Amino acid sequence: MLSQVTTTENRRLIRKRLIPSGAEPPTARDPHFMTNAASHPLAEGAGRRPRDVPSRYAAITGWGYAVPDKVLTNRDLEALVETSDDWIRMRTGISERRIAGPDETTSSLSTLAAKRALESARLEAADLDLVICATTTPDHLLPVTGCVVQERIGAVHAGAFDVNSACTGFVYGLIMGTQFIRSGNCERVLVVAGETLSRFVNWKDRNTCILFGDGAGAVVLEATEEKSGLLSSVMGSKGDVGHLLAIEAGGSARPATLETVAAGEHLITMRGNEVFRFAVRCMSQAATDALGKAGLALTDVHKVVPHQANLRILKATQEALGLPIEKMFVNVERYGNTGAASVPIALCELLAEETVQPGDNLVFVAFGGGLTWASAVVRWADVKALTRDRQEHPYSLSEPSKQHSLTPTA
Ligand code: COA
Repeated sequence: MLSQVTTTENRRLIRKRLIPSGAEPPTARDPHFMTNAASHPLAEGAGRRPRDVPSRYAAITGWGYAVPDKVLTNRDLEALVETSDDWIRMRTGISERRIAGPDETTSSLSTLAAKRALESARLEAADLDLVICATTTPDHLLPVTGCVVQERIGAVHAGAFDVNSACTGFVYGLIMGTQFIRSGNCERVLVVAGETLSRFVNWKDRNTCILFGDGAGAVVLEATEEKSGLLSSVMGSKGDVGHLLAIEAGGSARPATLETVAAGEHLITMRGNEVFRFAVRCMSQAATDALGKAGLALTDVHKVVPHQANLRILKATQEALGLPIEKMFVNVERYGNTGAASVPIALCELLAEETVQPGDNLVFVAFGGGLTWASAVVRWADVKALTRDRQEHPYSLSEPSKQHSLTPTA
């Protein structure tokens, strides 16, 4: 609770916060926690929120993404495996993807995306209370990639942890970050998703190597009384079909040995057809359920921002939803499947089009290894109003993407 933090800490928290210092946040026991209280069916029931308790939401106030410079085209892939530009375009919609250079890592791409997100929110990294890093391709098993990012951006007051729910990771991270804010535990949370899937791709397997790319995307969440940010969410998982998309070796169940590496068991394997069918079913259902929870209809949606796995999956999802084609944001042709990073990268590109207005409803929806799925309905905040009084904090964006060193510097 805010009232329990020390005076100095309190001052730091209140310095730039967006809610009045006396406001009491709702607790997880609040029956409307994580729901759209006004329109949720339960709003008519016994647990109506007392009128004098202020609402607390988690607005997205900053965003940024980073992708490697190196482009790998379908034509380049023709030299690696038996495939063709035509086949890849027709079956996946992908034309090219970005591939990390030797000095780039999940943390270096995530750091750059995080700095861009902070810059757009006009915040300093020291203002953050928490860094959530969604990734399936961490720099190391230890240290935690979220901590590497925390150190490299200078988030000296923040906790940090990683979320691994594969390509669904950003949506899970957004849901978690929102809960930390709505419960009153945090004022500002960075949710960053980064992947270097190219390091885990079997470049001899034409079923998988054509699909994946590298990149990172980040958002800053901030406490506000304005009804914005996450309005509703759904999460799901189905561990019994986890083997459909797997990396067999390199974990504690099957530690890396000369044999596992020689057999390529540290690389991604996938049963594409089955994953495809699963994806179409769960993406449309998750989006429908999240909208239902928020009490919204498809006509209330400005744009659906889906996980960019395959254009055919996106089209089938759009048809299953009955969504007009122009309401689904698609950039899979330029980046391929960037795992957890795909939704925030797509969000950043959508925002660059400057069509999203305060009050617009966006739907994020993703699926991935595990298998997992999630959807989130997000109401766009009046970001200009929320950040108007702040100084700009330009970051050095030209910083080279160096490997993080595990050798102590002092
Ligand atoms: N180039 C040319 N031919 C290829 C190929 C490639 N890159 N990859 C597979 N083929 C061949 C297959 O060997 C098969 O040949 P066969 O009929 O002689 O056996 C044929 O194309 C059809 O294969 P199929 O697997 O049925 O193709 P598909 O239409 O299902 O497309 C995927 C394959 C992988 C593109 C598709 O299943 C997919 O996108 N699945 C979902 C994957 C995904 O999103 N994963 C990430 C989850 S986060």
